[in-house]
Amino acid sequence: PSFWVVIPAAGVGSRMRADRPKQYLPLAGRTILEHTLDCFLGHPGLRGLVVSLASDDPWWPSLSCARDPQVRRAEGGAERADSVLNGLRLLGELGARADDWVLVHDAARPNLTPEDLDRLLTALADDPVGGLLAVPVRDTLKRAGPDGRVLETVDRSVIWQAYTPQMFRFGALQAALAGALAERVAITDEASALEWAGQSPRLIEGRADNLKITRPEDLQWLEQRWKS
Ligand code: C5P
Repeated sequence: PSFWVVIPAAGVGSRMRADRPKQYLPLAGRTILEHTLDCFLGHPGLRGLVVSLASDDPWWPSLSCARDPQVRRAEGGAERADSVLNGLRLLGELGARADDWVLVHDAARPNLTPEDLDRLLTALADDPVGGLLAVPVRDTLKRAGPDGRVLETVDRSVIWQAYTPQMFRFGALQAALAGALAERVAITDEASALEWAGQSPRLIEGRADNLKITRPEDLQWLEQRWKS
């Protein structure tokens, strides 16, 4: 199916301990954000892509993708959900309709493969709700008390890590995010807003290496991986 994309990229990424937001750090000769956009640009189903950026972001204009006619810039917001909502508003101005699919993808997830993207699009094309790429957890999980001692071992067979892209209908996503924000519900991904609205997003198993660059070692790992 055809689809729109929103890339929230207005966070500071303090865990990277770098001099700039993590999506502007170099990876294999370009910035992380350019690689991330490349996962979508050129896809035959792409209708348009919006990047939500901090208003004082000085790095974006120097990227070549800033001049791509399929790419537009929206204002970032206080929380990730605000940044996504601002991106959706711009998509509405660009002609997005309530039933159109929107994919929201983290700016710092540059290792999405075309196969994973197409698997998500195909699996959810006729789904009434939508869903997200996800990966079953590998490690044994413990629930701990405030003293750092184990309270119990959690059944990991039913636990997944939520990745992106997350794919929902434009109208439903906008309503869920706006509603959850208005009620001050903690929203760390788009699926949690849909869950708050009473929907059950579908999990589509994806590759574990579609990781979000969070710590310096993640970047080193990916750099090595792409070299070999
Ligand atoms: O902090 P975390 O890595 O979970 O952020 C996920 C994504 O949300 C990042 O791409 C970040 O730039 C974005 N974000 C945003 N606006 C905020 C906070 C985070 O666009 N206010």
